[in-house]
Amino acid sequence: MTHTEAPGLLLRNVRPYGEGDPVDVLIRDGLIAAIGADAGAAAPTDTEVHDLGGSVLLPGFVDLHTHLREPGREDTETIASGSAAAALGGYTAVFAMANTQPPQDNQTVTDSVWRIGQEVGLCAVHPVGAVTVGLKGEQLTEMGQMAAGAAGVRVFSDDGMCVYDPLIMRRALEYSAGLGVLIAQHAEEPRLTKGAVAHEGPTAARLGLTGWPRSAEESIVARDAILARDAGARVHICHASTTGTVELLKWAKDQGISISAEVTPHHLLLDDSKLETYDGVYRVNPPLREAKDARALRAALVSGVIDCVATDHAPHAAQEKCCEFAAARPGMLGLETALPIVAALLVETGDMTWRDLARVMSVRPAEIAGLTDQGRPIEVGEPANLAVVDPDSSWTVIGDELASLSANTPYEGMTFSARVVGTIYRGRVTTRNGEVIA
Ligand code: NCD
Ligand code: ZN
Repeated sequence: MTHTEAPGLLLRNVRPYGEGDPVDVLIRDGLIAAIGADAGAAAPTDTEVHDLGGSVLLPGFVDLHTHLREPGREDTETIASGSAAAALGGYTAVFAMANTQPPQDNQTVTDSVWRIGQEVGLCAVHPVGAVTVGLKGEQLTEMGQMAAGAAGVRVFSDDGMCVYDPLIMRRALEYSAGLGVLIAQHAEEPRLTKGAVAHEGPTAARLGLTGWPRSAEESIVARDAILARDAGARVHICHASTTGTVELLKWAKDQGISISAEVTPHHLLLDDSKLETYDGVYRVNPPLREAKDARALRAALVSGVIDCVATDHAPHAAQEKCCEFAAARPGMLGLETALPIVAALLVETGDMTWRDLARVMSVRPAEIAGLTDQGRPIEVGEPANLAVVDPDSSWTVIGDELASLSANTPYEGMTFSARVVGTIYRGRVTTRNGEVIA
């Protein structure tokens, strides 16, 4: 670590989980040392004091699905810029997907991403290892080596590509069960999505765009649930996007299959009516579905059928997005806008409490990935990885002002009430009022 021992911190006037009267929280040596009205009494004189005006205090968020683009596309994002975006979004840990250039399919690359993340020091950057060499879906990688390296890789995924071959997926699941690691599947049967750029439905038909049917996702979800059952393995479904996927997840969980799933803020909020503009910013994999899919995804997150929110933060250069819709690269930014969106859709509506939001943005993702120092309760003795949320800010999204090196946000100009106003990682303030604290 390049950072020296963090000074003590006193957070005054915060409401853990948005519950009860404001309290003070004392942080020392990276841990929560005291909580209560008199928590500051034991604070040494050099303690840094922040009055947070009654803001909501939550465990720092954990993102199971981030694209940081380093190595290879440092013009669109780096581990440093992506870590800054994560910290500004309230994240204290992110899982960096393997589809870099070269891909994270061997220990040299995964250890290097881990090391750079540690040097940046704004959040934990856990590299995801590829399941197959070159993400080609043909030959398994040395998962054991990546797991045993400095990065201690515990999540593997070919995300961006589906592990489409059932025999390869079966072997990957068997191997992962032995290693105690997790396979995260980008569920897309490639034979059903050839040339597809938009959700297959009335909108794509009218706009003349080639359709990506729900069945391309659902057939893989069903297949992998069954393969996981028979391998005695766990499987995680990336960016669930359809009503049928929700039904299959419920079925699989009811059978006792070890399956988990994430949903993105954009699939919770947006639908394919956005495509009327033909603006490439709305192109994403899986595609924005219909309003009824978004409704089912929100209900599944509330009920626990879908375990957690993951951003699928996917930075792309302007020239890759500001072009003909079908030529635009799929993917949208997500780290800095996730909390405001989930709060608007689920907390401000009364469907979820702040504690529920902590479950889907921190506790469950940490559990799914097996992180023991993240997603922890706000209690004395626990690691101080925390997010501070002002529920009544009025924040308008401007792509060019985001910390990400790219600006491909589909929320340009939208105003949200809830905003992350501070993040604490390992007992140190990493962001405050929208600024990164170096
Ligand atoms: C992702 C990317 O750009 O790497 N794109 C996307 O549309 N989601 C890949 C992925 O998450 O599938
Ligand atoms: Zn994906």
